[in-house]
Amino acid sequence: MDHFTNPRNVGIIENPDGYGKVGNPVCGDLMEMYIKVENDVIKDIKFKTFGCGSAIATSSMVTEIAMGKTVDEALKITRNDVANELDGLPPQKMHCSNLAADALYEAIKDYKNKKKK
Ligand code: FES
Repeated sequence: MDHFTNPRNVGIIENPDGYGKVGNPVCGDLMEMYIKVENDVIKDIKFKTFGCGSAIATSSMVTEIAMGKTVDEALKITRNDVANELDGLPPQKMHCSNLAADALYEAIKDYKNKKKK
């Protein structure tokens, strides 16, 4: 699996338009997601995680799916989409893939909150 060995969009964005951070209740790993948004379209997205290989692969996947989408489209990316894109993850690894989607939701929520101000 390419996303394991060659993850995309790892890093951080300075002054992001949205930032999300979630902890995994199952294993305690952390995921941070940064987005840059222009006219409601995700122009750039980066993540940083202390999670396992599955978490890294799914985040890489999520960032690729979300890039270029509007924030509302990106909100529709579900945990299952992610697992499907990765050809299904073993059930004991599902919580790892949830981390990426959840962090993305948080980042988008953050963006929307900021916009309201
Ligand atoms: Fe912690 Fe996968 S074991 S994110």
